[in-house]
Amino acid sequence: MRVLSGIQPTGMAHIGNYYGAIVNWVREQETAESFYCVVDLHALTIEVDPKELESGTLDTFATLIACGIDPNKSTLFVQSHVAAHPMLGWIMECTASMGELNRMTQFKDKGRGSDSVKAGLFTYPALMAADILAYQADRVPVGDDQKQHLELARDLATRFNRLYGETFKVPEPQIPSVGARVMDLTDPTKKMSKSSKVMNSKIYITDSDKEIQKKISRAVTDTFEGVAYDPQNRPGVANLLEIFSVITLQKPQDIAEKYSTYGPLKKDLSDALIEQISPVRERFIELQNDKGELFALMQKGASRAIEVAEETSRRARRAMGLVVI
Ligand code: TYM
Repeated sequence: MRVLSGIQPTGMAHIGNYYGAIVNWVREQETAESFYCVVDLHALTIEVDPKELESGTLDTFATLIACGIDPNKSTLFVQSHVAAHPMLGWIMECTASMGELNRMTQFKDKGRGSDSVKAGLFTYPALMAADILAYQADRVPVGDDQKQHLELARDLATRFNRLYGETFKVPEPQIPSVGARVMDLTDPTKKMSKSSKVMNSKIYITDSDKEIQKKISRAVTDTFEGVAYDPQNRPGVANLLEIFSVITLQKPQDIAEKYSTYGPLKKDLSDALIEQISPVRERFIELQNDKGELFALMQKGASRAIEVAEETSRRARRAMGLVVI
């Protein structure tokens, strides 16, 4: 059983990334052959500040280890270190149609209103399909927002296999039942996002205990009486109950029953978050200061990733009639 997933290095990871994806990566590495990738090439699809991209890549790599990804159990690597990704990315661009890329909602959302959208933002999902197919992944643990990209990866694998013969495994998305869509704390109709400029909208994995407390206490709720789990009409408190639910593994409805006002709920939730997040922050700070160790781990991950991805790339090229030497 093979698992692959990726995260962009654009800014620090937040609790949406953590509960929607990373905790599942940590669990998977115990039983599946796992590949986890910091997708720096995907980060080039929006405006880049070279210094920020470099430090973001190191920080994201360190964050994953701090969250519990063990480089001895998983292959943890950086996408641009493996040349088979852009190679297979091009092959996927030549397998996908303009029409299907045009239907991708992420492109529509991020590209809207800008007349200088990069071509790479449009072809982004083809590169993402390549990331997955390169490792012949059976499962891809992601948050809910990646569902459409996963469907495209499945379609492209199926189409390629039909046109050129059995080459790629068709991957299954693995989306958690709770935590798949952690919402913005200041506007619970939007998902928590790295790109939001509103500081109180998200909790970073590196936030101090005080910051966590402050952000939860300021999280938007409503003026209804009592506490109840009602995502449709009370999205703010539903979001808090869902975060609490992934931490405690209790149903959001059962948690809601224990409270009659928001104050104590928010206090207990921030205590629970602090208990989980603060050890991650401590480990991150230690690792961040050890650049030599991070580079050595990147080398180790890249050499295993290259082995696997290069083999798939050769198979795909041969199947299409490209001359492989
Ligand atoms: P990215 O970097 O935006 O997010 C990394 C992971 O975190 C999940 N996530 C969330 N989950 C719950 N609630 C949220 N508010 C939330 N925000 C983000 C994402 O679903 C994702 O699982 N396109 C991908 C990166 C990628 C990739 C891949 C993923 C590139 N190649 C191959 C899987 C396989 C992305 O931008 O994730």
